[in-house]
Amino acid sequence: MASITIRQLDEALKKKLRLRAARNGRSVEDDVRTLLREAADDTGREIPENVTPPGKAASAPHRAPSPAPFGTRRVLLVIGGGIAAYKSLDLIRRLKERDIAVRCILTKAAQEFITPLSAGAIAGERVFTDLFDPAHEFDVGHIRLARECDLIVVAPATADLMAKLAGGHADDLATAVLLATTAKVLLAPAMNPRMWSNRATQRNLAQLAADGCEFVGPNEGEMAEANERGFGRMAEPLEIAGAAERLLAPQARVLEGKRVLITSGPTHEPIDPVRYIANRSSGKQGNAIARAAAQAGAQVTLISGPVNLPDPPGVSVIKVETAQEMLAAVERALPADAAIFAAAVADWRVANAGGQKIKKKAGQATPDLSLVENPDILATVAKRKSQRPPLVIGFAAETENVVANAKAKLASKGCDWILANDVSPQTGIMGGDRNTVTLVTAAGSESWPAQSKDGVAHMLIDRIAKEIAEK
Ligand code: C5P
Repeated sequence: MASITIRQLDEALKKKLRLRAARNGRSVEDDVRTLLREAADDTGREIPENVTPPGKAASAPHRAPSPAPFGTRRVLLVIGGGIAAYKSLDLIRRLKERDIAVRCILTKAAQEFITPLSAGAIAGERVFTDLFDPAHEFDVGHIRLARECDLIVVAPATADLMAKLAGGHADDLATAVLLATTAKVLLAPAMNPRMWSNRATQRNLAQLAADGCEFVGPNEGEMAEANERGFGRMAEPLEIAGAAERLLAPQARVLEGKRVLITSGPTHEPIDPVRYIANRSSGKQGNAIARAAAQAGAQVTLISGPVNLPDPPGVSVIKVETAQEMLAAVERALPADAAIFAAAVADWRVANAGGQKIKKKAGQATPDLSLVENPDILATVAKRKSQRPPLVIGFAAETENVVANAKAKLASKGCDWILANDVSPQTGIMGGDRNTVTLVTAAGSESWPAQSKDGVAHMLIDRIAKEIAEK
């Protein structure tokens, strides 16, 4: 439908319209709308959807926000001030092509990188920028913005925005809305790798995860700064849109009432009271599975070796150090409907671990550490005669012949499924946020797409639910 631009009317008419609007206590735009409505009532003609007030460009996205049609999923996109803000324009498009209504807030810093006009043009709605804007606060205040959405996506989530959010600040529109919302919050962090690894940022990240925020990325890669590389690149728009869609989907309680047992993280095997043997497992994949299982309604016990991660919400977490402690905790936690062994258990422990710190003495030979094999927790549980969970799943971290080795492991361990992944150093899987797995079962193998560890967790939980339902 054609749109009428008031700016293009002749000056005399514009003046009359301004006077009339002032008399009626309305904006010119609202007053013209009323006039047209009255005229349409008389003549049966339709009212133009978009009337642009004088002084504003015809294409300016200042349409009065109307509620999204019933049933539409609504995302409030908070765009923070980072170079990755340009990717958020594409993110708006990616969300909209999934039939998700997008409303945007731009922080002051974000406006150094992109304009409200460009974000609004793509979103098709007015963009919000100020906490103390009388027109907006009257029209769509920060409380309404916080309420009228199903999910808030913060992209890019800068170090500063994360710090403010973790501290409960509310000194601008974005932080006030984030503090006032009860909707889920998805953060797509983006910053320089050194800012990302800074302890303050990691502390804020742990706090936000404990507060229930969800994360997508950051990914590893080139930075905007020359010769900088590392973790800190914002996740790609498609990845963020996928994560948003997952969070917007009504959480299917596919494991309601089921008991799920998960092992995760490394084990620490003492050499003496201060030294130990460990490995590089971060526990991220096991934690993600525990979180996804709990979201699916399962009663989850997570038995975790020493990790640097917040406990997943709604999960009963048992912390252990050694393989022997982990096995004992697993056996105590039985029975279960499904058991997932994601821990990187140390294969050996020190047989002659010292009760006192081993001293280094000049001229003395280096200590001989003799190793003994640790119990294989997965195999022990998979081969139990009683209380064997109906579905026992192991992981196989391999650096070569991944599927062939996983098939052999399936047989030797006696488990039902193996999730095999290539952990050779160039994949960045160990300690990273992404994973590429192959599901190996007696029936064959199935490669899953490269995705976040959360994505793998959700796919696994869906598969487990189907398998349990069929048993
Ligand atoms: O033999 P490998 O360590 O490659 O097997 C990996 C799988 O076995 C993982 O699921 C791991 O959690 C499990 N495992 C275990 N106890 C061990 C060694 C491995 O549960 N001692």
